[in-house]
Amino acid sequence: MSSTKRYTVTAALPYANGPVHIGHLAGCYLPADIYVRYLRQNGKDVKFICGSDEHGVAIIMKAKAEGVSPREIVDKYHGIMKSAFKEFGISFDVYSRTSKEIHHQTASDFFLNLYEKGSFEEKETAQYYDPEAKQFLADRYIEGTCPNCGFENAYGDQCENCGTSLSPMDLKNPRSRLSGAQPILKKTTHWFLPLDHLSEKIKAYIQDHKDWKPNVYGQCMSWLDDAGGLQARSMTRDLDWGIKVPLKDADGKVLYVWFDAPIGYISATKELLGEDWEKYWKEENTELIHFIGKDNIVFHCIIFPAMLMEHGAFILPTQVPANEFLNLEGKKISTSRNWAVWLHEYLGDFKGKQDALRYTLCANAPETKDNDFTWKDFQARNNNELVAIFGNLVNRVLVLMQKYYGGEIPKPQALTAADKALLEMVESMPGQVGTSLERFRFREALTTYMRLARAGNKYLAEEEPWKKVKTDADRTATIMYVAAQAVAQLAHVGEPFLPFTASKLRAFLGLELKDWSSLSVREFLLPGAKIEKGALLFEKVENDAVEAQLQKLEKSRALENTQPKVPSLKEEIPFEAFTKTDIRVGTILEAQAVPKTDKLLQLLVDIGIEKRTVVSGIAGHYAPEDIIGLQVLVLTNLAPRKIRGVESKGMVLMAEDAEGRLVFTQPSARMANGSAVR
Ligand code: MF3
Ligand code: ZN
Repeated sequence: MSSTKRYTVTAALPYANGPVHIGHLAGCYLPADIYVRYLRQNGKDVKFICGSDEHGVAIIMKAKAEGVSPREIVDKYHGIMKSAFKEFGISFDVYSRTSKEIHHQTASDFFLNLYEKGSFEEKETAQYYDPEAKQFLADRYIEGTCPNCGFENAYGDQCENCGTSLSPMDLKNPRSRLSGAQPILKKTTHWFLPLDHLSEKIKAYIQDHKDWKPNVYGQCMSWLDDAGGLQARSMTRDLDWGIKVPLKDADGKVLYVWFDAPIGYISATKELLGEDWEKYWKEENTELIHFIGKDNIVFHCIIFPAMLMEHGAFILPTQVPANEFLNLEGKKISTSRNWAVWLHEYLGDFKGKQDALRYTLCANAPETKDNDFTWKDFQARNNNELVAIFGNLVNRVLVLMQKYYGGEIPKPQALTAADKALLEMVESMPGQVGTSLERFRFREALTTYMRLARAGNKYLAEEEPWKKVKTDADRTATIMYVAAQAVAQLAHVGEPFLPFTASKLRAFLGLELKDWSSLSVREFLLPGAKIEKGALLFEKVENDAVEAQLQKLEKSRALENTQPKVPSLKEEIPFEAFTKTDIRVGTILEAQAVPKTDKLLQLLVDIGIEKRTVVSGIAGHYAPEDIIGLQVLVLTNLAPRKIRGVESKGMVLMAEDAEGRLVFTQPSARMANGSAVR
């Protein structure tokens, strides 16, 4: 075993079903990048791993929504994300994708390894199946009434109305989102990771990591202690997009996306390093650090470690610094409502201002609780902090240095208390920033960093070299020398936070990027060193730029308000499917409440050919006495159903709006009962 410590740092593989927004950046990519740049700069052996997550239902749904194949979706968004990350300075060593052959191979092998060890429980369960679309339904493909709040369009995994997480069996009145059909239960075989049996091991592992962030540790413990404890979880799915289950008789089955995606970290490391990859995943002196958003905690702290434990050849994650969520202008970021700041759009609208966004997102990072991004705050931080403090300090030093000394650092004379205080801060700042970063306290680190810029600015304002230059050459030289040390230190330690600015500044000062640990202040800008006059580091963000962004958001808000919230269109059906339905005009002859229910009315309807009893869920909308004599449309050839002891033969067709209001559908003129609707 070699003795040098190694770092494998990953950032959650984003789904390739849409571009990256500021919530993603603040949640995981920016802190990961800051951390990695810090390690690299300090000479650590680190690999920064990421790539696109290209499997799973999220991709299939997006493909359906855009009317293209999953392949086209992942190709499109992988490209957009990869280049946006790069332009924003997220310095991955590799940005791979899970559709690559190397990943399919790695994930299949991993699965087989566990399979051959007997880690999985093979179980036959009954799952919802769409008899019309002829396929098993992923949780997201099932819609029905939420058992918790009664919302009628809850999904099989979650109710978007009340936020409860659900399983498909919890839904009342389930419908397939593919065809609208009522799903049936059908048997299917899957391979389960028995988290229930592994829970002691997992718990011991988690409890060994009390050093994790409290939000992370807390969430893990609550999963472990939750009423039923951990449940076995299926690692395979009935889908046709993904990594085929590498077993005989497993046609139509793929690996669960949360099984394959984290293995993507391993595949991407292989892609990057070839043979050498193993050190970064197998040697004990390697730190394995996963940067993620809070919705990924259970997968990285429980499920993936359980997979790794079962496999046995790998190290386990040592740190999982998860952030909370970032909101935008007081509202939850939402892709579907276009309530977001998209990275690729930002990069187009604010050319060359990557660091302004990096700065704002870090200063405001949702480290311990959800946080809000506002354009006004962005503007204020840029103008009042980056421009007015940092930029001002740097600009004064560079300009005066040219003016007084032709750009050559002067020799300092006797140091005053103020000089010593600033130099002391220059010396201690990197260590403090490093300590904060190592504890994943990015906001604190940035605050400490900016404290030096503030102090430098204040120092110049108080010492006023532009006045002293006329009377006291020695003092002026000392002040300029001291101020220059602060600027140089800002250039060094700024690299992880503000890489674009730091590199410009290093160029102005003629500095190389240096190891913090080896930094000794008086070595980097020695008297006699030549520096350039430079150029402005930051530009103001004007009001109209902020207005334009707010207006963009206003458009999304307006659009949302005008767009009726109607269910999405069902899948196309052949004409024959329609001709099979028998819909008639009928007249309601009698109506009465079904005893002990408050939703149901029992109707007697004359459909020309005969009189039918139909039970209808309209009691909340119509009083029995008001509807007698009304003509309505009736679906007559629906198989009879017993509802609360009453046999219902057919269905009265109703229209329903977003608020759940129900009204009858009727012929626009009186028609003979039994007239066919075609
Ligand atoms: N694609 C997932 C998401 O966006 C994250 C996957 S992280 C990995 O939430 F570990 F699975 F790769
Ligand atoms: Zn609900």
